[in-house]
Amino acid sequence: MITEPAPAKLNLALHVRRRRPDGYHELETIFAFCRDGDLIELEPATDNAFAVAGPFAAALTGSAPAEPWADNLVTRAADAFTAEYRVDRAHRIALTKNLPIASGIGGGSADAAATLRALARLHRVPLDDPGLMTIAAGLGADVPACLRGATTIGRGRGDALEPVAGLPGMPVLLVNPGVPVSTGAVFARWDGVDRGPIGKDDLLTRACAGRNDLQAAARGLAPAIDAVLDLLTSAPGALLARMSGSGATCFALFDRETDRAAAAGAACARGWWCLETALA
Ligand code: C5P
Repeated sequence: MITEPAPAKLNLALHVRRRRPDGYHELETIFAFCRDGDLIELEPATDNAFAVAGPFAAALTGSAPAEPWADNLVTRAADAFTAEYRVDRAHRIALTKNLPIASGIGGGSADAAATLRALARLHRVPLDDPGLMTIAAGLGADVPACLRGATTIGRGRGDALEPVAGLPGMPVLLVNPGVPVSTGAVFARWDGVDRGPIGKDDLLTRACAGRNDLQAAARGLAPAIDAVLDLLTSAPGALLARMSGSGATCFALFDRETDRAAAAGAACARGWWCLETALA
């Protein structure tokens, strides 16, 4: 049995530069990863089987009767891997869904990337094999960053990656008001204004001076984001409070775990989903 974490992804900054003819947007973003997230467990099996458990399992699978190999980014990742590497084996895959779905913190992309890493370990494919990156890019714009799982600057669709030194161990709080948001719908509401690139200082300075250009568009679809950001921005000790990805999850970075815990207490008291974690 292979166990592979699927850490929550954060966009410490997300600058949208322009619309592309292919329907995507040209981005500049700082990807960072948390120490917590979903979990993939995978083993060889006679027939393919995919099961989801955990706090957000029902949100993912709905009330439909469970299909053994339902279409999902995880099963798509596995199918693409077995086709690319001509693997003549079936797999049993279990996903523990701890992260809210459609929430701007990777979710499906992180799960797909963890599935690829687990399959690569099982079938002895090196993690830096270019075929894995090609599969990842075909699954979604964030999947290559999630496959790498380290702090990177993403350009292009977000899949042209430049490694940068991260902020390992920095306490971070994730808060989601419980409103799923469609990534495509948020990008479609972007106002088309290029507000400029990410700066060139150290990572924290760059992040703090940066923006999330999708924040206004997402707030239009999920007004609860405003209340979450108000709480995080005014939390004592918060160094940076911002929405991640296309929302609605927002995060705050802290120097001290005690400040993070106090902010988490206030956010949980509002009935919002909270994750107290640290940057990886
Ligand atoms: O690649 P992925 O399926 O995760 O993207 C979901 C949607 O988000 C795309 O269909 C597109 O509408 C939007 N998107 C975008 N520009 C990006 C990334 C995503 O417009 N760089």
